Amino acid sequence: MTEPIGIIDKYLKPGSKAHGILIAHSTAVMELSLLIADHNPHLKLNRELLKQAAMLHDIGMIKTNAPDLGCFGELPYICHGYLGREILENEGLYEVAPFCERHTGTGITKEEIISRNLPLPVRDMVPVTPEEKVICYADKFFSKSGKHLSKPKKLTKIYQNIGKYGEEKLKQFDNFIGMFGIYYIYGFGTPKHTSKTDLMNEKGK
Ligand SMILES: [Fe+2]
Repeated sequence: MTEPIGIIDKYLKPGSKAHGILIAHSTAVMELSLLIADHNPHLKLNRELLKQAAMLHDIGMIKTNAPDLGCFGELPYICHGYLGREILENEGLYEVAPFCERHTGTGITKEEIISRNLPLPVRDMVPVTPEEKVICYADKFFSKSGKHLSKPKKLTKIYQNIGKYGEEKLKQFDNFIGMFGIYYIYGFGTPKHTSKTDLMNEKGK
């Protein structure tokens, strides 16, 4: 298959702000996804697919209006998921394409799209496969703004961001924690820290 960087360079100008942010963010997500795979060998995750999906999951941002990210498209940022899917399907990357629209928050349901009147095609956009769940989970640890694009955010910050969208989303994030683990992400081995509060006060941005 075409290397992800070839696809990125085709849609985002190398040397541009958007290109720099996308590469830094996607690389951080890729490294964490592979770490998650290392710590969950029983899940037999497809590492090659994780690498490609991590690098390409946010490519649709270039078609949105997000000047802070160097993106000057017309659609709201929330559309970057399905727009990315369209880009990758046009490139023939059918296996990777769904990752783009299934990683936003902890996933967006068809019902939410209707009830919140979101500017999205009305279909479930939630992670389904284990690899899609890994990318969605890993993505929550990294910001695309600020100086520390490759440093995991503090859990408090992650909970704050997710909590804005309701209790169900926090539960979904906790499900991811249960599925893939958390301590190693912050550099802990076997936890001497056993509570979420301990973790929240630990390192991170
Ligand atoms: Fe992302």
